[in-house]
Amino acid sequence: MRAAVVHSFESPIAVEEVPIPEPGPEQVLVRIETAGLCHTDIHAARGEWPVQPTLPFIPGHEGVGIIERFGTGNAHGLHVGDRVAMPWLGYACGDCGYCNSGRETLCASQLNTGFSINGGFAEYAVGYARHVVRVPDGVDPADAAPLTCAGVTTYKAVKESGARAADLVAIVGCGGLGHMSLQYARITGAETVVVDTNPERLESARMLGADHLVHAGEQDPVAAIQALGGATASIVTAVNPVAFEQALASLARGGTLVCVGLPAENAMRLPIFETVLGGLTVKGSIVGTHRDLEEVFDLHRRGRTRVLKHEVLLEDINDAVEHVLHGTAPAPRTVFRLQPTPSWGFGAAATTTTIA
Ligand SMILES: NC(=O)c1ccc[n+]([C@@H]2O[C@H](COP(=O)([O-])OP(=O)(O)OC[C@H]3O[C@@H](n4cnc5c(N)ncnc54)[C@H](O)[C@@H]3O)[C@@H](O)[C@H]2O)c1
Ligand SMILES: [Zn+2]
Ligand SMILES: [Zn+2]
Repeated sequence: MRAAVVHSFESPIAVEEVPIPEPGPEQVLVRIETAGLCHTDIHAARGEWPVQPTLPFIPGHEGVGIIERFGTGNAHGLHVGDRVAMPWLGYACGDCGYCNSGRETLCASQLNTGFSINGGFAEYAVGYARHVVRVPDGVDPADAAPLTCAGVTTYKAVKESGARAADLVAIVGCGGLGHMSLQYARITGAETVVVDTNPERLESARMLGADHLVHAGEQDPVAAIQALGGATASIVTAVNPVAFEQALASLARGGTLVCVGLPAENAMRLPIFETVLGGLTVKGSIVGTHRDLEEVFDLHRRGRTRVLKHEVLLEDINDAVEHVLHGTAPAPRTVFRLQPTPSWGFGAAATTTTIA
């Protein structure tokens, strides 16, 4: 099968032939149709975090495809031919206190798709039957892919923010994750203010109904948001610690900063005095549960969310990474199609953009 393989943190990703993996006990073999490119894949492929994957590995934790075969043991209600999503939470033990209290994303024994187990940037991938998530009929697999990480992560982050209808919620960073956070924040009824440094992403936010836009390259986001009364909650998916510091300073008294982005530069300055006197809360939010992803798919099936994406071939992965890093991708999320079709690619007439 063809797969995108990271052999070194310094070299481009190789697209090459590798053996189709064998599903082990309670695992499924999935023929991948689509897989979204998350900024996490870029951090992982470049070894930018305090933890690094073991080389070589196949990235991708937004893979969506069709079950072809099962390993031995419990199929957990799935059938050959079902369409499933293969999220970052590739395995959780099911026995620990976190797993048993609805917090499986904190399981210390978890395995992560596209990081500690091979991921969806391949024609086939193996996942655990209990942890792949069924994609309902009526959800396009090219939409399902970004929902599998960008969607579920920000759905959970909005829940963590405690956003309610009378609140002002700041969405800081409006890329793959951020354009979904905006939509989940709007579903709560809250007023929204979107901050980005890329005017294209602010345009996406405008189309998705953001109440206020702040171009952080031209305006001071702290002054702009404080002029609106301060944010009750701020959800930060920007890949830059400065954005986290600005988001904290943009909060109203009693506000909550939800840290979601995982920038390579792994530290922010947190002023103790302002945090104490303002009664601020700072929390981290990591992906979402199996059930959260089912809810994300259901909201999408009901037409409550839109995925702004463009499709490219897996062979274009290194170009796609550069476009995400330089903010030149034509849509907030890039999705790989695993079946080759001549019209897909980065060429001018060849890109399918679903922004309308
Ligand atoms: N916590 C989690 O569970 C989780 C899950 C998935 C991804 N992530 C992390 O979230 C981050 C975002 O991922 P993505 O795929 O959305 O990336 P992305 O590149 O699509 O989006 C990042 C956005 O931030 C904007 N930005 C950059 N600097 C900014 C600044 N100073 N102020 C405001 N906006 C700024 C960019 O223009 C871009 O639109 C990554 O670090 C990724 O690893 C975390
Ligand atoms: Zn991700
Ligand atoms: Zn566990």
